Amino acid sequence: MTAKINIVEVGPRDGLQNEQQTIDVATKVELIERLGDAGLNTIEAGAFVSPKWVPQMAASDDVLARITRKPGVSYPVLTPNLKGYEGARAGGADTVAIFAAASESFSKKNINASIEESLARFQPVAEAAKADGVRLRGYVSCVLGCPYEGKIPVKDVVRVAKALHRMGCYEISLGDTIGVGAPGEARDMIRAVSAEVPVAVLAGHFHDTYGQALANIYAVLEEGVRTFDSSISGLGGCPYAPGASGNVATEDVVYMLHGSGFDTGVNLDALVTTSLWVSEKLSRRPASKVTLARRAN
Ligand code: HMG
Ligand code: MG
Repeated sequence: MTAKINIVEVGPRDGLQNEQQTIDVATKVELIERLGDAGLNTIEAGAFVSPKWVPQMAASDDVLARITRKPGVSYPVLTPNLKGYEGARAGGADTVAIFAAASESFSKKNINASIEESLARFQPVAEAAKADGVRLRGYVSCVLGCPYEGKIPVKDVVRVAKALHRMGCYEISLGDTIGVGAPGEARDMIRAVSAEVPVAVLAGHFHDTYGQALANIYAVLEEGVRTFDSSISGLGGCPYAPGASGNVATEDVVYMLHGSGFDTGVNLDALVTTSLWVSEKLSRRPASKVTLARRAN
């Protein structure tokens, strides 16, 4: 039987949060719906964060209200605190994501809290989600490097991943936020985390700044990771990670996985069409090699 890989599409959030130009709600809604039609069953739809910190996510409530939800598809949104959680709930979110970091400096810059303070803020979100039957995802940022501190000790990644697991996250996404890690480092990090948290609940979240993302994915696939975050057309970056390029492109991940005998349930042609569509909308060149190659043919 072909092994199944879960792809978590983060383009509408991690991708678009970093765009300077205003993107209207209709475009966001169409993007999410196209991604669902391409077969993606987890599509991060927005973030209930301060509009002063990340203006691009300000209309996440409108986006949630306007998307036509496909049965079997979940639409997680980021929630940094109870205020965000309440907004997400009011918008009918089925899944929320809390986001911590393995680096103290990044945590401060990103959510204005130390790692410990952030975990304390997430606890009531986790409790509310459990009480309401809302699924809780977790992120750890800067697992392979921080824009302010450089290398991050693996033990710090393990500690935060364990804390999120104890809080009840069904999945913990380990983020190379600035895309600096190489495959050997990614493998060692996953080995250390999976000694404490079951590998089945871990997801890889790789940005492609140094062109290592696909190699990193392959390295941690070999360690048993079966869920990966990616972004259509390689959209994105991080507003609090200067110089970071986008997430690895969903099309490139799907192409690599299908060519390596894995099943994703995603239609590559539909992804390429969507990638070209969104690139045109944003007046940018696709960051996906697969899309560029298909466009040329
Ligand atoms: P703060 O300023 O410390 O918050 O920000 P505060 O509690 O003092 O409140 C200040 C103001 O924000 C108040 O409004 C609050 O009502 C409002 P004012 O009275 O000034 O008008 N506020 C909110 N508004 C909307 N939604 C909320 C909310 N909470 C407070 N939830 C805060 C703390 C966490 C809010 C802020 O730092 C923030 O929103 N940060 C978000 C940063 C962010 O979204 N970063 C990008 C996502 S992380 C990422 O991309 C990495 C990832 O992809 C993984 C990877 O790549 O590694 C996940
Ligand atoms: Mg990210």
